[in-house]
Amino acid sequence: MYLEALKKYIESIVATNKPESYEDLFRLSKGAFPDVVYDLVLSSDLGKNLKRKYLGFKVVNNVIPESNPTNYDWRFDHSTNKKLVSLIKKRRHKRIALFGTPSLFIALSKITNDVTLYDINEPLKSHFNHDERIVLVDINTFDFRDILPFDCIIIDPPWYLNYYKIWLKKANSILKMKGEIIVTLFQEMLRPKAKNELKAIKAFARKIGSIELEQNYVSYITPLFETELFNFKNIPCYGNWRVADLLVIRKERNSLLPAIRKFKKDNWTRLEIGTQTIAIDGNKSQGGKIKVRFPYKKNDSLIKSVSERDFVRREVNFMTSRNRGLIIAGCRKVISVLRLISDGVPTQNALKTARLSKAESDEFQKILDVIYI
Ligand SMILES: C[S@@+](CC[C@H](N)C(=O)[O-])C[C@H]1O[C@@H](n2cnc3c(N)ncnc32)[C@H](O)[C@@H]1O
Repeated sequence: MYLEALKKYIESIVATNKPESYEDLFRLSKGAFPDVVYDLVLSSDLGKNLKRKYLGFKVVNNVIPESNPTNYDWRFDHSTNKKLVSLIKKRRHKRIALFGTPSLFIALSKITNDVTLYDINEPLKSHFNHDERIVLVDINTFDFRDILPFDCIIIDPPWYLNYYKIWLKKANSILKMKGEIIVTLFQEMLRPKAKNELKAIKAFARKIGSIELEQNYVSYITPLFETELFNFKNIPCYGNWRVADLLVIRKERNSLLPAIRKFKKDNWTRLEIGTQTIAIDGNKSQGGKIKVRFPYKKNDSLIKSVSERDFVRREVNFMTSRNRGLIIAGCRKVISVLRLISDGVPTQNALKTARLSKAESDEFQKILDVIYI
């Protein structure tokens, strides 16, 4: 059903919009992943006029840590950040909170002091010189009680219905009356259930107040973890393809929002090694000796999907920002050695400090090989 609807949609945009390159087509595909669109194009003659347009390196935001897929971290491009800053200025918002939008924090923190970023990504702190306006929390489970209310909260949650509901609910709990929540909205071809999920998000938003929708307002930089996947699958996507709408919710009432299924606390530890952001799930296989398993045959660690629903993604408890994953045992020890390396201790000294056996050091080497691939 979904693939049929997507194919029809792509046929219609090829006929009417006449995209010149694969890039243009991916941007027009209303959120459908380029690998799905590309498969459809290859199995038909829809791509006969499309060019593979190599664009060279696009701007990579090197002020904030490299995006890790466990953070669902797609960053706004420069023009989106600029538009958002002028929108906030135009609306004369004074006290601002950001939920999971570190790149907007870069721009806003330069023009106002009263901006607070709530985000889970630990390496952000050192990138921003331990700025106290960055609060490291898991928004899904954080208790926002006793926080002075905000005029405006900008949120870019992971694109799943349960995240939208909980982030909107938390935002509403710290928003002034007549204040605004500005939230990104994925588009209807993102996945089979996207249309219904969008309806549910809008219905939830209307319980808070009035809503306005700005189409195609948001554009994202393709993160390196996705580029790795596109290169592996030979998908001609060299620039930025991801586009979203923007929903502005104006709080008009103090309604009791529906109860939401409880979230499990996020237990990933995030560290920076060199330029990469590494995430290790502290919930799984904490104690015991270090042992490393590859998710695919022939020691292949490149994860073949960026969706959290992917079977292998669910199994791995170690992920790099270059989309490499592993299944490791002895996470506690691994985290302690990686923390030392992250703090600048030479690897051999870190291994000695942790008193790893020869067998464990050999296993640990596999982790380093995946990081320094
Ligand atoms: C979809 S990205 C948005 C990034 C944004 N577009 C930007 O350019 O800054 C999601 C952001 O939310 C953060 N995040 C993900 N899960 C979170 C959670 N449970 N609690 C707090 N922050 C979270 C990630 O670290 C990341 O910065």
